[in-house]
Amino acid sequence: MANMYPPSPEFVKRARVQGMEGYLALYRKAAEQPEEFWGELAEKELEWFEKWSHVFEWNPPFAKWFAGGRLNASYNCVDRHLATHRKNKVAILWEGESGEQRQISYQELHRLVCRFANVLKGRGLKAGDRAIIYMGMVPELAVALLACARLGITHSVVFGGFSAEALRARIQDLEAQVVITADGAWRRGKEVRLKDAVDESLAGCPSVRDVIVYRRVGAGVPMQEGRDHWWHELDEGVSEVCPAEELDSEHPLFVLYTSGTTGKPKGIVHTTGGYLLHTHMTMQWVFDLRDEDTFWCTADIGWVTGHSYIVYGPLSAGATTMMYEGAPDFPQPDRFWRLIEKYWVNIFYTSPTAIRAFIRQGDQWPNGHDMSSLRLLGSVGEPFNPAAWEWYYKMIGKERCPIVDTWWQTETGGIMIAPMPGAVPLKPGSGTLPIPGILADVVDLQGKPVEANKEGFLIVRRPWPGIARTLWKDSGRYRQAYWERIEGVYLAGGAARRDEDGYFWILGRVDDVMNVSGHRLSTMEIESALVKHPAVAEAAVVGKPHEITGQAVACFVTLKKGNWNHDELGEDLRKWVAHEIGSFAKPEQIRFTDSLPKTRSGKIMRRLLREIVTSNSVTGDVTTLEDLSVVTRLSAQQDED
Ligand code: WTA
Repeated sequence: MANMYPPSPEFVKRARVQGMEGYLALYRKAAEQPEEFWGELAEKELEWFEKWSHVFEWNPPFAKWFAGGRLNASYNCVDRHLATHRKNKVAILWEGESGEQRQISYQELHRLVCRFANVLKGRGLKAGDRAIIYMGMVPELAVALLACARLGITHSVVFGGFSAEALRARIQDLEAQVVITADGAWRRGKEVRLKDAVDESLAGCPSVRDVIVYRRVGAGVPMQEGRDHWWHELDEGVSEVCPAEELDSEHPLFVLYTSGTTGKPKGIVHTTGGYLLHTHMTMQWVFDLRDEDTFWCTADIGWVTGHSYIVYGPLSAGATTMMYEGAPDFPQPDRFWRLIEKYWVNIFYTSPTAIRAFIRQGDQWPNGHDMSSLRLLGSVGEPFNPAAWEWYYKMIGKERCPIVDTWWQTETGGIMIAPMPGAVPLKPGSGTLPIPGILADVVDLQGKPVEANKEGFLIVRRPWPGIARTLWKDSGRYRQAYWERIEGVYLAGGAARRDEDGYFWILGRVDDVMNVSGHRLSTMEIESALVKHPAVAEAAVVGKPHEITGQAVACFVTLKKGNWNHDELGEDLRKWVAHEIGSFAKPEQIRFTDSLPKTRSGKIMRRLLREIVTSNSVTGDVTTLEDLSVVTRLSAQQDED
C-alpha cells in the first residue's frame, strides 16, 4: 500500500476547492451536466465580445467549444486586468541566466504586446497567417505569442534546442509567412546561435516573407536585405494602440509540433475559447492560485507546458508568472532554490527529471536556502517515481506543501489528471483523480474497463474544452492516431492502472514514443534521421531506462559495406542526430550489429531490442553487438504465432 497524504487542515481552509466533497460536487456536475457546467464557467471566467450559440458541438472525432462566440486570448490575458487592481501587478517576473531582472506589469505587458502586434501588422500580417517563433526564454517570447494571438495570427513555437533541419520541416509544414527569432540565447554561459539556424533552415521555405530578430546576446548576425529586420528597429515610433481582433472561439490559436509514431512530427492544433478556459480553470483547481502568489513553471515555452502554464493559463488568471532564462545548474546546482528564495516563489512546477538530477547533486544545495515561501509543488511530463516524490516532498516542501503530479499531453491542452490539492489525498507516484469534465478510464482493446490494479490503455470518453481539434492539414491522421483503435474514445497512447480507490497510475507509453527528460521523442523520427547518414543501412531506436532522464535514446544500427571505425562513426552518428533533430535528441548509445531482429513480414521487433537495452549491462556510447540473427529468428516466430 502506498503512503497516503491527506491535505492539512490549514491548507484545506484556504483552498479554492475544499475536501473530497468539494471535488466530487464539481466532478459530478461536470459529468452530468457538461454544457451547463462549462457554459457557466466560460461566462464567468472569460471575457467575450460576443456570446456563443452552442457550448459544445461533437461531430466525432471533431469537437467545437463555444462556436460562434467571439473573444481574444491576448485580451483575456492582458487587457481585462487593466481595469482591476492588477493593472500595476507584476505579470511577468523574469530573470536572465546572468542574473538580470525584469518585472513587467500588466500595463507594461499591454504596451509591449500592442507595439509588437503593430509591428506585425506593419509587415502586412493578419488573422489566419502563421508565425514560427524560435527564441530563448526572454519576456519578448511571451510578448510574441500574445501579439500573434491579438491579431489572430496562429503561432507555432519551435523549441530553441531543435536544429535548423527540424525548424525547416515545421516552417514548411505550416507555410509560415514570418519567423520571429533572436540573434541568440544564453545557455550555461554560452551563446546558442539561433539566427544562424534560422538562416540555414530558410533555404527551401518560400512562404517566409519576413524574419524579425530580437537582439538578446548582441551577436553579429548577417541580416538579409528585405527579409530580415531587427525587432527594435521595427518597434521605433510604433503606436501603442492596437485593438484585439474579435475572433471566433474556434479560431486556431497555435500549432505545436510533437512527436508521434511516424517519422513526421504532428502539428497539434489548439483553438481559442476552449483552450483558454481549460488552462484558466486548472490554474485555480490544480494550482489553487491566489492573487498574491508568485507562480513558477520551469518549463520552456517551446513545449506545451510553457504555453499553458507560463503564458496562457497564468496570465488569463491574472497571476505573476515567473520566467527563467537559463539552465537549472548554472552557475551552480542551486540556481532553482536560489530563485525560489530570492523571489519568494509560492507555487513551483517542474519535472521529475529535474528532481532526480537535484537528488544526485546532493541535499547541501537546497539546504542552503530559505524556501519557506513555497506552499504548493507540482510535477509534469513523466512518471514520478515514489522515491523522488518523497525527496521533493521532504527536502523542498518540508512536508508542508502538497505535490500535484499532473498528467496531460500536448494534445490535451491542459492538465487532465491531477489532485486538487485541498481536496484529494495524495499517493506518491499517482496523478490521483481526473479534474472535472474529464471522463478518464483504463480499458482493454475492446474499450472495456479493466479491473482495479490491472494494466490497460488510458482513455478519455468525452471531449473536453482544451482538446486538440485536429492535426495541421491532416485530419485523417488525427482520427487514426487518437480515435480509431478503440471506438469512440480518445486514446492517449499511455498505459495506466487504477487502484482500489480509483486513483490513476500512469505507467508510460504504449506506442513508439520515448520520453527523455520529459521530452517526447519518436523512435521513427530518430530512425529516419539515422538512415539519412551515408554509412547507415538500417536503424532501430528504442528507449532505454535511465536513472535521471527516465529514458535515454538507444540505437541499433547496421552499416553499408565499408571499412568503418566504430568509435568514430558512433560519435559521428550522435552528432548527426543532433544536427537532424536537435541536441536534446542525441542518442546515449549507438550499437552496431550485422542484422536487426525482424518479424517475417519485415517489421523491426523493438520489443526485443527494448529487452536487450533493459537487461544488458553493456555500457558506454558505442558498443558492437554480435549478430542478433539467432535470437531474432526464435523471437520472430513467437511474435507471429
Ligand atoms: C507523459 C507534456 C506520467 C505521458 C505535458 C504523456 C506523464 C506525455 C505525466 C505527454 C505524468 C506527462 N505522469 N507521465 N504526470 N505527464 N506524461 O505532449 O507519456 O510533451 O503522454 O506533454 O508525457 O508529453 P507532452
